[in-house]
Formats: sequence, C-alpha cells, structure tokens
Amino acid sequence: MKKKVLILSGGISKERLISLDTGLQVANELKKNGYKVKISEPNNNLQKNIKNFKPGIIFNALHGQFGEDGYIQSLLDRYKIPYTHSGVLASAIAMDKEISKKIFLKNKINTPKYFTYSYDIKNADLIKKIKKKLKFPVVVKPLNEGSSVNVYICNEKNIFRILYSIKQYKKVMIEEFIGGREIQVAIMGNKKLGAIELKPKRKFYDYKAKYNSSAKTEHIIPVDLPKNKLNQVLSMSLKAHKLIGCKGVTRSDFKFENGKFYLLEINTQPGMTKLSLVPEIAAFKGISFIKLIEWILKDATTKK
Ligand SMILES: Nc1ncnc2c1ncn2[C@@H]1O[C@H](COP(=O)(O)OP(=O)(O)O)[C@@H](O)[C@H]1O
Ligand SMILES: [Mg+2]
Repeated sequence: MKKKVLILSGGISKERLISLDTGLQVANELKKNGYKVKISEPNNNLQKNIKNFKPGIIFNALHGQFGEDGYIQSLLDRYKIPYTHSGVLASAIAMDKEISKKIFLKNKINTPKYFTYSYDIKNADLIKKIKKKLKFPVVVKPLNEGSSVNVYICNEKNIFRILYSIKQYKKVMIEEFIGGREIQVAIMGNKKLGAIELKPKRKFYDYKAKYNSSAKTEHIIPVDLPKNKLNQVLSMSLKAHKLIGCKGVTRSDFKFENGKFYLLEINTQPGMTKLSLVPEIAAFKGISFIKLIEWILKDATTKK
C-alpha cells in the first residue's frame, strides 16, 4: 500500500501563495499516482489533522519564514513522523543569508561582498561606508526572506527611501551588485542534478519575473557554459549543500560575471510546482515530476 502523505502548505510567510501552489500541485500529482493525500495549514488544526489522518510522511511544501527556517521542522521532530527536506539546523542556517554567507566565505565559496545594516549609523556615514567597501549600485535585502521579496537594487539617490520602507526587518543586508548572468543549480541528495539560466526581461529576477508568466523570463537549459565552468558551479552548490548539512533537494542561486560565480544563497525548500526550476532541471535530466516527488518522500525517511 502506498503511504498516506500530509502536505503542509500555506503558512503566514510572504511566500504563502507560492506555497499553496506548490502544495496543490504536489497533492494532485500524488493523488494521480494512487497516494492518499491531505493538505494542512501549519496552524492550530495541524495536530488534529495529524491525529485523524495518521500520515506516514509529511511533505513540507512551505516556503519562507516559519516553514523553511527550522521552526516548523522543530515542531515536526516532536511528532516523530518523517518530513521532507532539511532538518532544523540546516534550515535555520540556510534561511539566514548572513550566517550562510559567513560559512561560504570561511570555506572559500565566492559570494558578493556585503555588510549588514541595523539602522544604527548616520546616513552620511552609511554612504561613505558603501563607497569604501562596496560602491554603488548595491543590493539591499532582508536576511531571511525569499522569492525576491523586498530585494532592491539601490543607488545613492534612492537607498534611504528603500531602507526606511523595509525598516520592519530591523537588520538588512547591503550587498555588492553583481551584473552578468543568473544561474541556478539543483542538488538532489548529495548529487549534482543540473543547472538552469534565467534571463529576466525585468531589471532583475524579482518577484514578478519569477511568478508572473507575462513578465516572460526566459529559462535556458542546458546552460551555455564550457564543461569545466558548469562543473565548477555545480561543485560550488554541492559544497554549500554539504557544508550546511542540507537534505533532499536544494537550489542554489548564483550570479556569473567576468568568469566568476557568486553564490547568493541556498534554498532548502525550493518551489515545487511543475513550472518551478528544480522540477524543470529534473525533467531535463529525465526525472519526471512524480519521480522527483517520490524521491523526496523516500529521502525523508533517511536520517537528518
Ligand atoms: N548581489 C546581487 N547582485 C545582483 N543581483 C542580485 C544580488 N542579490 C540578489 N540579486 C537579485 O535578486 C534575486 C533574489 O535575491 P536572493 O539573494 O536570491 O534572495 P531571495 O531569497 O529573495 O531569492 C536574485 O535572483 C538576483 O536576481
Ligand atoms: Mg533566491
């Protein structure tokens, strides 16, 4: 008999809608293939749903805060039911762009130069610091968000308007802007799965470029790179995945400029709709959507 799968999706992060989409598509695919499926929000009903449905496994289709950052994982650990993707610690580390960058740097994985800003120095001093350490334009981003939510490219003129519009984060990252190409890599269980290049028509790969088909971001697979370069970026991803102790499938986001790759971040719960990047890379490698989902479920039953 095939397993009963409880799919966690929705949640309260800014990526709620993407998560609902991931959850629904994974659910449909599993149902089509004979699984018993229940979708649950990670709210007060979760315990009741688990008790009544008695899932053999939980597919975590949440994205962002509370779903991808170790919180829900620590709760799930207490139920002693296997759940997909990374465990508490790896999820927490990968979600925090500052901590993960420190690990990348310590281990010679190239990542854009940065510093964090806590709204604690004078405006003029911040401008001086940026000019000294990074130079304009810079990228301003939250430390623990996803889907390009509140990521901005800033110049000297608009940076304070932007910084104050996202003051709710209290601490943000100011990062050197890297031009060039956008390449993302999927890792599947300590193996290099493959890469894809994104060519957004917009200023950068922002929320609309990611999810709005009318924004017409071009997906290029296979990526046009010499073999050694392709292998280099795949190896950087695998190294990051292993260093942070990730499990299952991860997706790492890179910029590629002047022959150099820059790792922006590693995602422990990448989007899993049929049109998402990891399923697209998998399909290119001959792994169908259901095979990918089944692999993720199977991997969940091995130790985190
Ligand atoms: N340092 C940077 N230089 C150039 N573009 C960047 C930089 N940082 C982020 N971006 C752009 O913003 C997008 C989202 O940034 P990322 O760090 O991956 O955050 P998120 O977790 O929101 O996906 C990237 O895919 C890229 O298009
Ligand atoms: Mg990203």
